[in-house]
This record gives sequence, C-alpha cells and structure tokens, in this order.
Amino acid sequence: MNRHILPFAIIAIVGIFAAVIVYYIGVSQREDIRLAEENGEEVVEENGGETTTDAESIYASSCASCHGADLTGGVGPDLTTVGSKLSKEEIEDIINNGIGSMPAGLVGPEEATVLAEWLSEKQ
Ligand code: HEC
Repeated sequence: MNRHILPFAIIAIVGIFAAVIVYYIGVSQREDIRLAEENGEEVVEENGGETTTDAESIYASSCASCHGADLTGGVGPDLTTVGSKLSKEEIEDIINNGIGSMPAGLVGPEEATVLAEWLSEKQ
C-alpha cells in the first residue's frame, strides 16, 4: 500500500518546493523593480507631481544629456569646476534664461535654484 503512495508523495513535495521557490523569486524581482523605479527618473511622478529637490536627479533628467552624466561635458561645456568660474546667481541666470545654444526654461525656477546651489559647489 505505502509503495503506491510514495511516488505521489514525492511529486507533491517537489511541487510544493517548486511553488515556494517561484514565489520567493517573484517577491525578490518585485523588490528589484520597486528599487529601480525609486532610483530612476520616475521619482518626480511618484511624488505626485511635486517638484523634487534632489539636484542630482534633476540634473540627470534635464541636463546630463548635454553636459554628461558625470558633468564632464558633451554638447555643452564641462561643469565639473563651474563653481570656480561662475557664481550661484550667474548659474541660476543661465539655467533660467539659457545661453548660446542652451535653451531657457529646461526646469522650473525652484529647480533652477537647487541646481545652481549644487553646481556652484563644483569647484
Ligand atoms: C540642449 C543641450 C543642453 C542642455 C539640455 C543643457 N545645457 Fe547647459 N549648456 C549647453 C551649451 C551648448 C552651453 C554653452 C553655451 C555657450 O556658452 O554658448 C551650456 C552652458 C551651460 C553653463 C555655462 C557653463 C560655462 O562654463 O560657461 C551652465 C552653468 C549650464 N549650461 C548648466 C546647465 C544646467 C544646470 C542644465 C540643466 C537644467 C543644462 N545646462 C542643460 C547645452 C545644454
């Protein structure tokens, strides 16, 4: 009698283990996706449209395309030492009004202030 039940018991146990493993893989992937979204450009939207005050994330989404993710420049000039060349007010003015081929109004005025403060520390 037991000899006939044993294979089914093994299959059932293996099946339960498989389900548990798949469940944990799913949970950890969901966690990865959540973390990736938190670190990504979604931040602004996740705040319910509020402007973010994190200079680096504003820079990454609005400025890095031209000035490089590490500030070393590209289409736009290197900004790694911009703070020793321009004051916070001058940088804020450039962000708000544009300069040369850099367009004005890439970010809102509050974000411009946060960015200018952050960039003026790059000396
Ligand atoms: C479309 C490309 C582009 C984008 C996007 C852009 N810039 Fe620029 N930026 C430029 C160019 C080109 C110049 C040089 C303009 C000139 O001097 O004629 C410049 C110049 C500057 C300068 C002056 C640097 C210097 O050494 O004189 C600052 C500061 C600056 N950008 C900051 C920013 C910030 C902050 C952002 C994001 C809000 C940003 N830029 C987005 C293209 C861009």
